[in-house]
Parts: sequence; structure tokens; C-alpha cells
Amino acid sequence: MTAFAADKLLLFGATGDLSRRKLLPSLCALDADGLLPENLAIIGTARSDMDDATFREMARASLEEFLPAERRGGMATFLNRLSYQQLDASSIEGFETLAEKVAQAGAAKGDEEEAGTSGGLAIFLSTAPSLFGPTIAGLEHAGLTGERVRMCLEKPLGTDLGSSAEINDAVASAFSEDRIFRIDHYLGKETVQNLLALRFANILFEPIWNSNVIEHVQITVAETVGLEGRVAFYDDAGALRDMVQNHMLQLLALVAMEPPTSFDATAVRDEKVKVLRALRPPQANETVTGQYRAGAIDRKAVPGYDEELGKDSNTETFTAIKAHVDNWRWKGVPFYLRTGKRLPERVTEILVQFRCVPHSIFAGGKGGTASGTSAGTGLQPNSLLIGIQPDEDITLSLMAKVPGLDENGVRLREVPLQIKMPDAFVGQHRRIAYERLLLDLIKGDQTLFVRRDEVEAQWEWVDAIRSEWEAHGVTPKPYNAGNWGPSAAIALTERDGVSWHE
Ligand code: BG6
Repeated sequence: MTAFAADKLLLFGATGDLSRRKLLPSLCALDADGLLPENLAIIGTARSDMDDATFREMARASLEEFLPAERRGGMATFLNRLSYQQLDASSIEGFETLAEKVAQAGAAKGDEEEAGTSGGLAIFLSTAPSLFGPTIAGLEHAGLTGERVRMCLEKPLGTDLGSSAEINDAVASAFSEDRIFRIDHYLGKETVQNLLALRFANILFEPIWNSNVIEHVQITVAETVGLEGRVAFYDDAGALRDMVQNHMLQLLALVAMEPPTSFDATAVRDEKVKVLRALRPPQANETVTGQYRAGAIDRKAVPGYDEELGKDSNTETFTAIKAHVDNWRWKGVPFYLRTGKRLPERVTEILVQFRCVPHSIFAGGKGGTASGTSAGTGLQPNSLLIGIQPDEDITLSLMAKVPGLDENGVRLREVPLQIKMPDAFVGQHRRIAYERLLLDLIKGDQTLFVRRDEVEAQWEWVDAIRSEWEAHGVTPKPYNAGNWGPSAAIALTERDGVSWHE
């Protein structure tokens, strides 16, 4: 890894949605906490024609809209770090002027630069993927791809393995892999990182974290929002490519991976990629797709997908998949994944369902059955529910004896052992996922960024699903907004005797 802290950050797509909602607020919040390098200069670039002052004004308005007032303490200092250069990234002209602007942004530190003690440049590309190639060519032309330059890419990184490889090749022609930072913003979420702490900082779970004790795993990423104005993008993507290919597979990999030797970029990513490569391509009957129709969310009427889109479409806004990880640890353990728009609530959670005890000593008693089953006692298998958002709770369901004299046999009931993370860590504010990722980009730590082989393994699996859909002429089944997807999603688990956690 090239060890330097960047002292310049160049944001492509600086006036776009991601920049206004997440990147600028995250950077400002880091600044307010004194976490940005003191001399960090931030240069924005986009197609819009504006000067530094106008860009700062736009940034101020975004911060006021998207960053809570209590985190805006350092706003004035932060805005002073910003400058702007207009650029049409699709043509090579203009990159030299951009390079001059970047150089100027560091002008005050010219002496250090000569002495070779200065930082370097981190570039954040949050533009349409069609601009990735021309942007890299432009940067190369303007001498902005040297050893002390890092490149950070925001999704979508392609629409299938082929197009993703093309993007990766274009970036690799100018940057070595140790200088490429691919964002999956789920990895920036505190609760997602906590999965690693839960699994590998506690002795309790690892010995039982396998097919001997775990019956199945459920991963749900449910959203209440619909298209949110991203009409063209979403209709070309769909739930599988928008959510499963990246965020859900990263969650699955963190749950299923072998213990890495250390919390280091190579060790962690080596283990994740092994899981991704062990994913078996599901058959068509192991997947369900849906598309929302008009309905109600929180008792408010919302239109259907086709109405929002203004035309008919075969894009899925919901998908549920029964996934299998073909290795020793997970033999025979299904991973049920589901994600969708316009579902009844916004929730991301992972449920680890353990097996039943091998023999119930409570069965066959006065309240039990002679067959040796636990029917009648209330005995249930344990489960571990890991809340990612909005609730950051970890709940282990344990069986306990219902107090009483047991005249009709022992009665058991599930009781939760629950950790509410915000209560356990009072006074720590919840950070935007991009805060951590931007800081790691500036410092050069790749642990929470996705390596090329991971992205490609993810695409390979997703492409296999899409081919299966095409081969079987699968089209999304309708579901009313405010429901948990089409009824086939329920059937997908019920036929295995499993209910989705709700
Ligand atoms: C993005 C998807 O990557 O993640 C969006 O493109 C989705 O469609 C979003 O809404 C969800 O992110 P979060 O952090 O709100 O769960």
C-alpha cells in the first residue's frame, strides 16, 4: 500500500446528488471533529459553470439541508477548503486547466512539495460510468495519475461482468490496484463493521458458526422509498444489480467468511472473495422477482412503479433469493436474501437461525409428548438478530422457563438478550458511512473498499441469475406497495419450513 495521507481531494461530480447529500456533509462533519488533515484542499469539478464562490454557496446550502445543525460546527473553515473547476470530462480539453487548479490548491504548500514531504492527491469519481474511461484518459493526459494519486470509484461499476471488467481495465491502465478504492457504502456503516467485531472479538460465536449449529441465515434490506427521481438509472439496474450485487453480497460475505488473520486489507478481502467465489448459481425456482404497484406506506397512498416511470417495464423492484455457499462450513445452510423498494418499513437486518437442541429433556413430560419432540413445551431454536439499520440492536433469543410450579410440565418461552448499541455507547454520534470511507481514502487504508476480484465474483453470480431469468422468461410479479413483496417470496422460504423474520 502506498502510505501517504492525501492533502488534496478532487471530487468529480461535485455538484451531483451524492456529493450534496453525502460527500460534502461527511467531509464537513469530519472537519468539525478535527479529523481532516489540516492542510487538506478540496477541489470540486463538474460540468456546471461556476466559480469558487458559487460552489461554496452550493456547498453551504447542501450542508444546511443534509447535515444536522449540531455537526456543522466547522462549516466556515470547511467551506474555505473548497474550490471549483468547470470541466466537461467527456473531452480531453480542460484537464490541463483542472491540473493547474489542483496544483494551485496546494500552492501554499509548494515548499513542502519540493522537499517531497507533501501528501498526495485522492480523486473521487462520482459520475456516470460512461465518463470513467474519458476521465481517466484526461487525468493521464494532464499528469494526474502518478504514484501519489489514488482513485476512488462510486457504483455502478458496470452492469455485468463484461462491462465491469472494462471499467476495471480502464482504471488499471492508469492506477495500480493498491491505489484503487471501490466504494460500497455499506462497508462504511458502523453496524456492518461491527459484524466483524461480533464474530471475531468474541469466543462465543465462532465454534457454533457453521452448518452443525446454524440452520439458515436471512438477510433483509427493505426500503420504503420508490424511484426517488432516479428513473433512468434504476430502470436499467433493478433490485438485483442495485442492491444484491454489492451491498447484500458484502453483508453475506462478512457473515460467511473464514476468520482473517488480521484486520488488514489483504487478509479481510482474501477471505471475502473466497466466499463470493463459493456462491452456487441459484436455479430459477430459488429466486423471486417483484415490481410494486400502487399501494400505501405509512397510510400514505403511493403510486406504482410503472406510474412513477411513465411506462411499462420488466425491471424488478424486489428480489428474494435462496443462496448457497458451497464450502465445508456452510454445506446445506441456505442464505435467504431479500430486498425491495416500497416495502412496509425501512430495515436492514441479518437473522442467524440456529438449529433445535438435539434432544429435548422437556419433551414427553406431563406437558410434552411421548414422541420425544418438544411440542407443547414452547421450546424453540435460538436465533441471533443483528440490526444494521435503523435500529442497531443485537438480539440473541434464548429459551427460559416460564415461572410456575410446572404442574402440567415445564413451559418454556423465548426471551431476548438484547444489546442496544446507542445505549451501550452513549455520547458517540452516528456517523454517515461516507465519513469513514472518505477518511480511509485520504489515509490510504483499503480494508473497507472492494477489491477487483470481489467485484468480479459478485458480478459472475449476479450474471448467472440474470441468465437464468432470461432462459426461463422470468418477469416480476406485482406486489402492492406497503407489502413484503409478492406472495412467491413467502412461498420461497415456507416450502423449506422457514418464515421471514418480520
Ligand atoms: C444505493 C442504492 O446503493 O443504496 C439505492 O443505489 C438504495 O437504491 C441505497 O436506496 C440504500 O442505502 P442505505 O444506506 O439507505 O441503506
